[in-house]
Amino acid sequence: MFAFYNLGMFQLRCTVRDCQQLLEQRERELVCDAGHHFDRARQGYWNLLQPQDKKSKQPGDTDEAVLARHRWLQNGYAQSLIEALRPWCAANTSEAIQRTLDLGCGEGSFGPALFSNADTSYCGIDLSKRAIKLAARGWPAATWVLANADRGLPVSDQSVHRVISLFGRRPVAEVHRVLVPGGNCIVAVPGEEDLIELRERTQQTGHSRSRWEKIVDDMRRGGFEMVEQKHWQRNVELEPAAITDALAMTYRAVRRSQRSRLEGVQAMNVTLAADLILLRRN
Ligand SMILES: C[S@@+](CC[C@H](N)C(=O)[O-])C[C@H]1O[C@@H](n2cnc3c(N)ncnc32)[C@H](O)[C@@H]1O
Ligand SMILES: [Zn+2]
Repeated sequence: MFAFYNLGMFQLRCTVRDCQQLLEQRERELVCDAGHHFDRARQGYWNLLQPQDKKSKQPGDTDEAVLARHRWLQNGYAQSLIEALRPWCAANTSEAIQRTLDLGCGEGSFGPALFSNADTSYCGIDLSKRAIKLAARGWPAATWVLANADRGLPVSDQSVHRVISLFGRRPVAEVHRVLVPGGNCIVAVPGEEDLIELRERTQQTGHSRSRWEKIVDDMRRGGFEMVEQKHWQRNVELEPAAITDALAMTYRAVRRSQRSRLEGVQAMNVTLAADLILLRRN
């Protein structure tokens, strides 16, 4: 006799090549009708990663970057960013269940901050094991999945009401497939001025242009329309430990030799900036 649960109301699907059948939870594992099964890790996340999908052009953040981002978010540097995103995260239809899929959820601070009242209808996906473990520890009631978002999303067609990608992956065709018509997609990307003072000090070049307009173009071509765009920006005084974290977690990998240019710096005023886009699936 097996007990079947309604996997947090999330419709995950099998990642075995060419299978794609719906997964159902049976005790501590997920099974599909073809008999493939996936164990629930001790830390509470589902490992849907196939051996051939471990490698990626973007292999997921390093442990160092994940831990730096975790400390950064715990220190509250994204609090006003969360407030800027909050109005877009309110219910957008009268349906009782509004599922949210968080692509590249990282160490998982944004989920509970934005959707704390909807733990069974939130699912975070990340390719970093360290990140997904931290996420599952921080919000055990939500659904956490280790998977490669660039190899097809392990989620049924039109089963999600909202996709969020905060500085994460954006597989446009897959996001379109999993969203219900009229569903929302919320994207955040680093703004032009983000960490500009640190980039100048470490003499990093490039990446100074914001990419949000190009993202909107790509998403339009993929069947989305833009509803709203916002710029978020603030200045913070960073102590040396926070400067180290900001450099370690940044997507613009900073070499140690460049970091050494910041040695001896006591505290610095630094700009944080992001472009936020709200899109709707046609
Ligand atoms: C800059 S972090 C942002 C994390 C989180 N959204 C936040 O804002 O704190 C990008 C995240 O995307 C994850 N990632 C990179 N490539 C991925 C992939 N192919 N599939 C799933 N996650 C991926 C990384 O492991 C990392 O946690
Ligand atoms: Zn299967």
